[in-house]
Amino acid sequence: MAGIWQTQMKKNDEETMHVNEAKKKDIFILAIESSCDETAASVVKNGREVLSNVISSQIALHTLYGGVVPEIASRKHIEKINQVIEEALKEAGVTLQEITAIAVTYGPGLVGALLVGVSAAKAISFATGIPLIGVHHIEGHINANYIENKDLEPPFICLVVSGGHSHLVIVREYGKYEIIGRTRDDAAGEAFDKVARAIGLGYPGGPKIDKLSKEGNPNAIHFPRAKVEGSNYDFSFSGLKSAVLNYLNGCQMKGEKVNNADIAASFQKAVVDVLVEHSLEAVKEYKLDKFAIAGGVASNSTLRNAFAEACDKRDIEFYHPSPIFCTDNAAMIGVAGYYEYIAGTRSGYDLNAVPNLKLGKREA
Ligand code: KG4
Ligand code: ZN
Repeated sequence: MAGIWQTQMKKNDEETMHVNEAKKKDIFILAIESSCDETAASVVKNGREVLSNVISSQIALHTLYGGVVPEIASRKHIEKINQVIEEALKEAGVTLQEITAIAVTYGPGLVGALLVGVSAAKAISFATGIPLIGVHHIEGHINANYIENKDLEPPFICLVVSGGHSHLVIVREYGKYEIIGRTRDDAAGEAFDKVARAIGLGYPGGPKIDKLSKEGNPNAIHFPRAKVEGSNYDFSFSGLKSAVLNYLNGCQMKGEKVNNADIAASFQKAVVDVLVEHSLEAVKEYKLDKFAIAGGVASNSTLRNAFAEACDKRDIEFYHPSPIFCTDNAAMIGVAGYYEYIAGTRSGYDLNAVPNLKLGKREA
């Protein structure tokens, strides 16, 4: 069955390509993202112009449980997906008939959540004949940098720090990624969320630690900066998280009052120091003069300031998306989808959700 669909897909695709060629039309990507707790859709014109960026966040719902509940996330995505897609088209002033291709996140992420976006994208593609393109979520995060930095082109090094990933990536060309560093345990965002929970800030922890840190002293407590044996670029955050928990336990046992703002600021400084040190070492070693950040943690104000200052000192061009394009959104998937589209990538109707999808490897 998949084979027949793929053949049909190819035919429709070729027809669409011919129509596009004939009319020299703009390329409009309808993008869909539902890998975690945001249901999002966007229309992106010619790769870098975001015509709409609709995000329906489930944060308030998951806050009740202190973290994302996968089953609830899937159900909420089902409720919202059609509405969000309609809104994205309406806001962009583009009809479905004008859409060149549909890009959808197919991994990594929560399988039930991913399936909602993938199924919606496949249904629209099947009903209209518009080509379908499966996009890697992290590729989307990296590509968010192209939206506001019109001059940014590969090659460059990108630090991707999200709730599930901490990767140092060389972007060799559009769509070509080489991972040179990764976390050995917790992702940076995960560490933020766990420490926030430990000091009673709740979910999502990153933005709350970011805010509270502004009232604290980053040098009040010395938390460890982990080095990973055998790699200059890999990260490890679980020891840091344990150090914070041990510090809290120690204070409790001694009956000492804790200063949450100092803990938040000192923890954040420890994370930022490690991220900056490893990233800049990579930029130097690989002799690239462009560096970008991406992912939810990239919206952290201390992290952005630290990188801006460090890059400025070393004459490295520093790129970062606005906070709204750092956390999960569909515009970034639209940008990545555009570059995949012009490179000829097409997915068949056998496209499936791949919860542990690896960056740089395409899977059906
Ligand atoms: O990229 P993202 O929206 O979703 C994933 O793909 O994981 O990242 C979410 C993560 C969460 O761990 C959240 O706490 C963290 O990004 N985050 C932040 C900030 N905003 C979001 N971490 C630190 N500072 C922030 N301002
Ligand atoms: Zn993400």
